[in-house]
Amino acid sequence: MTGYLWLKAFHIVFVVTWFAGIFYMPRLFVYHASADDQVSKERFKVMERKLYRVIMNPSMILTIVLGIWLFAESWQAYSDQVWIWLKIFLVVLLVGYHHYCLRIIKAFADDELIHSERFFRIFNELPVFILIGAVILVVVKPF
Ligand code: HEM
Repeated sequence: MTGYLWLKAFHIVFVVTWFAGIFYMPRLFVYHASADDQVSKERFKVMERKLYRVIMNPSMILTIVLGIWLFAESWQAYSDQVWIWLKIFLVVLLVGYHHYCLRIIKAFADDELIHSERFFRIFNELPVFILIGAVILVVVKPF
């Protein structure tokens, strides 16, 4: 059981670091979209690239690897319950959001503005619903 709790502890740590990146990246997009001098734009390109490569990607991979490991260890107990499959569905949406951020980063790298500042403000709010949903499903295990 102790091993399982260590897995769960680090799973939660990387969930937090992943969401730190997921919540910060669209903020950078909002500022980048409103920047009109090239010096600022170049600075945001570096910040976006580093946040994605150094924080978001490793955190996503470690969250999912440890999550699958936890699920494998608890397969007997959880595989016939709905909450875990709904949670995995939410994680798939989150991975989609994560990859869409890369598409926006690449467009900005070519000084292409593919969405408005207003779009990025709304885009910034979406992961909140996935976070609330996933945490309620895994902690409360309602069904
Ligand atoms: C494919 C991805 C994932 C899988 C397969 C997965 C699977 C699991 C499993 C099996 C547990 C242990 C549940 C228990 O024993 O009580 C767990 C714990 C947890 N997971 Fe995930 N997880 C994934 C991604 C995530 C994400 C993205 C979040 C955040 C939104 C998250 C948040 C949590 C939390 C907070 C716990 C601790 C629950 C508790 O202690 O009661 N997981 N996860």
